[in-house]
Amino acid sequence: MTHIRPMLPGDLGGVLEIGADVARLNAIAAAADGTDVILAIETSCDETAASVMRGGREMLSNVVATQVDFHARFGGVVPEIASRKHTEAIVGVVDEALSQADVGFGGLDAIAVTQGPGLIGALVVGVAYAKGLSLATGLPLVGVNHLEGHILASRLSDPELATPLIALVVSGGHTSLVHVPGWGEYHTLGSTLDDAAGEAFDKVAKLLGLGYPGGPAISRLAEQGDSAAIPFPRAMLHSRDYDFSLSGLKTAVLTYVRREQAAGREIDVPDLAASFQAALIDVQVAKAVRAAEEYGVRDFCLGGGVAANTALREALRAALCAHGVRLSVPPLALCTDNAAMIAAAAHVRLLRGEFLGLEAEASASLPLR
Ligand code: KG4
Ligand code: ZN
Repeated sequence: MTHIRPMLPGDLGGVLEIGADVARLNAIAAAADGTDVILAIETSCDETAASVMRGGREMLSNVVATQVDFHARFGGVVPEIASRKHTEAIVGVVDEALSQADVGFGGLDAIAVTQGPGLIGALVVGVAYAKGLSLATGLPLVGVNHLEGHILASRLSDPELATPLIALVVSGGHTSLVHVPGWGEYHTLGSTLDDAAGEAFDKVAKLLGLGYPGGPAISRLAEQGDSAAIPFPRAMLHSRDYDFSLSGLKTAVLTYVRREQAAGREIDVPDLAASFQAALIDVQVAKAVRAAEEYGVRDFCLGGGVAANTALREALRAALCAHGVRLSVPPLALCTDNAAMIAAAAHVRLLRGEFLGLEAEASASLPLR
């Protein structure tokens, strides 16, 4: 059953109180134990996604409409196309998530949405739609940081995952090492100074004519190549911080390709893919291990689309295991963008009584706190 209160002008005053109605929100937070039901919406990049989740773990639905085919012909995500496709898909995706979960608005405790970071025009679609739903239904609004979602994705498939932990989020838009002292507390240790890990995969793939997204194609080719064939640079491997720089690696690949072509030599693409991937992985693994040691954690989680990379998972697992740290990686469907991870993160925020007012806006560079 769907219960949407009609949006009469008289309603606005009362519902706009959402941000200020502290007592009511505190009561909702206090009642949110293992049974709160959240509808989460994610539109930060090129997937329109909605999920209904009970108690932060029980996935009642997880619907993802990908736009990847619309962007592939341009070799990357085109922001204007992304916003337009979100606008076209969002109503159907949310309806499908509610219908698969067999839940109406009356059965929900909150509406959650990715507030940032991401493409602003894409984020705005989800945030505006979630605000509209909140206003129309009187349900409280919970804002989630997209990176927080990628971190919480691990908890969905690994209930044993415990804080304090270190998380590495590697996606098309982000490369961040985060210390998580407790659920809902995030301390970013470092991030990329230029290209994100997935972006590096995508750019190198484009250079080699492998199509978009490039990660899956490069990782497949790398399986047949020799990772020691070409000594690509490991930027910032020994820097004392937790930042990353990947644009130099991309340039080194470009320079190598041009030099080989100029010399009339044929490029061994699997060797190149494996060597590029190894250079990227070496730095990620070294910084991950150092962070785990410095913060003395027993658990580590990997999230984001690049977490689908088998070589990265294996190298990270082996290196962390040697230091007595357990690695948790979500299944593939939860590594790439989805709304189930946003619902899992929203559950934590709900328990902490952290809600958004209707004046809140999407933010392309929302910091993780
Ligand atoms: O998390 P995600 O779906 O979107 C963002 O939030 O950016 O990540 C997409 C990225 C793309 O750059 C894609 O090339 C990369 O994840 N990716 C991979 C693999 N599968 C996807 N990168 C390396 N190896 C893979 N197997
Ligand atoms: Zn993502």
